[in-house]
Amino acid sequence: MAKKASTHRMAAKKKPKARKSQAAASPGEVTGEEGFVWTRKDLLGLDELSPQEVVHMLDTAQSFEEVSTRSIKKVPALRGKVVALMFFEDSTRTRMSFELAASRLSADTLLFTAKGSSVSKGETTLDTVKNIEAMGVDVFVMRHGESGAPHMVARQVTGSVVNAGDGAHEHPTQALLDIYTMRQRLGHLAGLKVAIVGDIAHSRVARSNILGLRKLGAEVVVVGPRTLVPQAITAMGCEISHSLDDVLGEVDVINMLRIQFERFGGGLFPSLREYHQIYGMNGERLARCRKDVLIMHPGPINRGVELTSEVADGPNSCILQQVTNGLAIRMAVLYLVTQSQGDRRE
Ligand code: CP
Repeated sequence: MAKKASTHRMAAKKKPKARKSQAAASPGEVTGEEGFVWTRKDLLGLDELSPQEVVHMLDTAQSFEEVSTRSIKKVPALRGKVVALMFFEDSTRTRMSFELAASRLSADTLLFTAKGSSVSKGETTLDTVKNIEAMGVDVFVMRHGESGAPHMVARQVTGSVVNAGDGAHEHPTQALLDIYTMRQRLGHLAGLKVAIVGDIAHSRVARSNILGLRKLGAEVVVVGPRTLVPQAITAMGCEISHSLDDVLGEVDVINMLRIQFERFGGGLFPSLREYHQIYGMNGERLARCRKDVLIMHPGPINRGVELTSEVADGPNSCILQQVTNGLAIRMAVLYLVTQSQGDRRE
């Protein structure tokens, strides 16, 4: 059993205490346990986390929200630590959010992007990581086009590995920030009905969201054409619908996903225009939803495909709030995995 960490300090010598969930009163809601201690070296996916670990991550993020409201937006929790941002695949939001999160925690950062690196000379992922580890790295934040790449690296390095998206497998911090935003906006998670719409087959965001939401008692319906929704997804505890119109009026949240052309090239539906007509969110469809339905999207959005600008920029959209919340989630992730290093080294 890991000892309680005491090595990291917030400003004013305070360790961020995971605040109790706002949603304690909801029946079936998973709430934070007093004295719970995070013991994992890595964050590779939501699959392996217990409901209590997911809630602890959300509650720790809630504690970090306040840091971003200060005039000096920094705490010394990771002072002296090195966070390597290893991006073998493109990113805007995740990479910048982790970079800013590390900076707010006073860590030093190293940025690796595959483009312009020695990957073009044939260096393998593991050799690249091992060489960067030799510079003295405490946390690897890793995005990779191959499912399982961060898991392979985690077995080979001493430092912590955080999965920033691996192939079509998992994107745990995206799901955590999505779930955090739902809890923040709606006050609870148990009993919520969440529609995840679009390219389910190639989506690591869908997989991590389904895993996290089901652990915390929400219902999930995945919506899309048969070519983009594998029947086997029901094994994760969600329903399937091939009609967005059928589910509009019965869900609390609609999470629209991007079509991941880079993972299949095309040919799974006739045209983007037709896709938008059947599965796109527009003002007319929004009018048939519950008044306070939350419209989400992990980004990057394709305006006019997954959703119109009227919906993306409208009052039900929380797309930019998701991005804001991503910072607190990533501060919590970096903090907790390094805290567990402290426990293991004591
Ligand atoms: N949502 C997300 O992962 O966006 P990026 O690809 O820009 O990081």
